[in-house]
Amino acid sequence: MRSAAWYGGNDRDSYIHRAWMRRGNPDTAFTGKQPQIAIVNTASELTPCNAHLNEVAQSVKDGIWAAGGVPYNLPMISPGETNVRPTAMLYRNIAAMATEELIRANPVDGVVLLGGCDKTIPALLMGAASVNLPAIVISGGPMLNGTFRGNILGCGTDVWKFSEDVRAGKMSQEDFNASEKSMIRSKGHCNTMGTASTMGSMAEALGMTLPGLAGTPAPDSRLLEMSHLSGRRIVEMVYEDLKPSDVMTRGSFVNAIVALAAIGGSTNAVVHLLAIAGRVGVDLTLDDFDEIGSHIPLLVNLQPAGKFLMEDLFRAGGLRAVLKEVEASLDHQAINVTGKPLVDSLKNVEIFDENVISRLATPLQKDAGIAILYGNLAPLGAVIKPAAASPALLKHRGPAVVFESIEDFHSRIDDPNLDVTKDSVLVLRGCGPKGYPGMPEVSNMAIPKKLLEQGITDLVRICDGRMSGTAYGTVVLHVAPEAAAGGPLGLIKNGDMIILDVEARSISIDISDAELASRVLPASTSEAFAAPARGWERLYIDHVQQAHLGADLDFLLGKSGAPIPRESH
Ligand code: FES
Repeated sequence: MRSAAWYGGNDRDSYIHRAWMRRGNPDTAFTGKQPQIAIVNTASELTPCNAHLNEVAQSVKDGIWAAGGVPYNLPMISPGETNVRPTAMLYRNIAAMATEELIRANPVDGVVLLGGCDKTIPALLMGAASVNLPAIVISGGPMLNGTFRGNILGCGTDVWKFSEDVRAGKMSQEDFNASEKSMIRSKGHCNTMGTASTMGSMAEALGMTLPGLAGTPAPDSRLLEMSHLSGRRIVEMVYEDLKPSDVMTRGSFVNAIVALAAIGGSTNAVVHLLAIAGRVGVDLTLDDFDEIGSHIPLLVNLQPAGKFLMEDLFRAGGLRAVLKEVEASLDHQAINVTGKPLVDSLKNVEIFDENVISRLATPLQKDAGIAILYGNLAPLGAVIKPAAASPALLKHRGPAVVFESIEDFHSRIDDPNLDVTKDSVLVLRGCGPKGYPGMPEVSNMAIPKKLLEQGITDLVRICDGRMSGTAYGTVVLHVAPEAAAGGPLGLIKNGDMIILDVEARSISIDISDAELASRVLPASTSEAFAAPARGWERLYIDHVQQAHLGADLDFLLGKSGAPIPRESH
């Protein structure tokens, strides 16, 4: 065991390591032969989606003890999506860094990764991949369905919808306020197919969870059973030396991309999967999402693209029932944490409700995966989720209405004199990894009030930021390079004609190359990108990569493994 370097000797240093760790643990915990397992736990009361993870950790501990291991809770940085400003994404990489460093620094032989809220599972997987000790993921699971006045309430998605309804005069402020108490019904993360649900599913599709875990609702007792079993399994994985690099192969990422399309998952999965692949050393590119996923049909009828919520997906058969339908597109060699091929876990799974999970022969939508766009507006690529877009807008030409920042957008969007029509293309810049900083979820800009009042509910929108996985609309995201990195997005002027053609995979400004080359970034725009003088933001801005590479820090790519550090005494 790696941990024997701390506990296994008879010298002064081994004495110190053992003595301080006893606290009721028996001698048998410290012979140097029992796997020492860190439960890397993102429980936090300021990350409400993960607040129940201490209860999950207890079941994991029971499982680890039962299998002969020794468990330790290792609290981890937990960026909560709804609270953290300027955006939780700014802190994904610091959480990944802390995960990596604290696993490596401690007497640990294997890790159980407890996440849930959007950034936590990606951060844990990135950090664990760079250490490459045996690891298993438990996603804390979605909350139960909420209802408001008899109607199902989708966490996140209905906030966007209701706020638009208030602005359009279709919902009173009083009703809007009243709905707030019904939004979060139980413990767990967002119950739509937002980023947390998506990344929980990605963890299973990558092979990093026990089969059938993804989407188990947070209050469901089966989550605790799976947590116990995961605790048992990680001990076996240490004995087998089954590492993330053995599980997360290129084939696993193929499976994740197929799953992402079939479930109608969040666009945020693109940056997260690219970042995880960068850590584990798999050559994954933006184009892989289009080539592997764009022709996969949408099978899951969940908000924001559809009707139901995660609790419904679970009772309808869950992720494995979806994967069974697209089994022919999966990599059959890719294994999961059981050490066996992922596809082995799809035997004997069934669809129990075809209103929630469609058959491959009758999909909700054909060719539903994420599309990658290029052109003089996004030379390094941009992302669109056709399943969440208006079909009529997937081919569109219209004049740009440019906003320099989200504050600029908020101050002008409802100005009756704003020159905007149903054909306009809203352009928001300064929201990329460097520009904001942190690449916030602001790209699904609200529709101008005067258009909402005319019944217009969607416009083409373009941004170098991200979009909440719970949001919808014809939104071109993750434009690379971002404006703050000198991308052409920063050079668009009001009235420039923007051409979107998703079928041709193109996004462009209808001006000549010479005209584009002659333009310079407006002074007001460049001033907004002034880098902070110190702290994490400074380090982040100096080293963050563009969205098409996963927005990881350049010096964190790859892995350093788990060498035993020098003694501290
Ligand atoms: Fe935590 Fe949605 S806010 S998962």
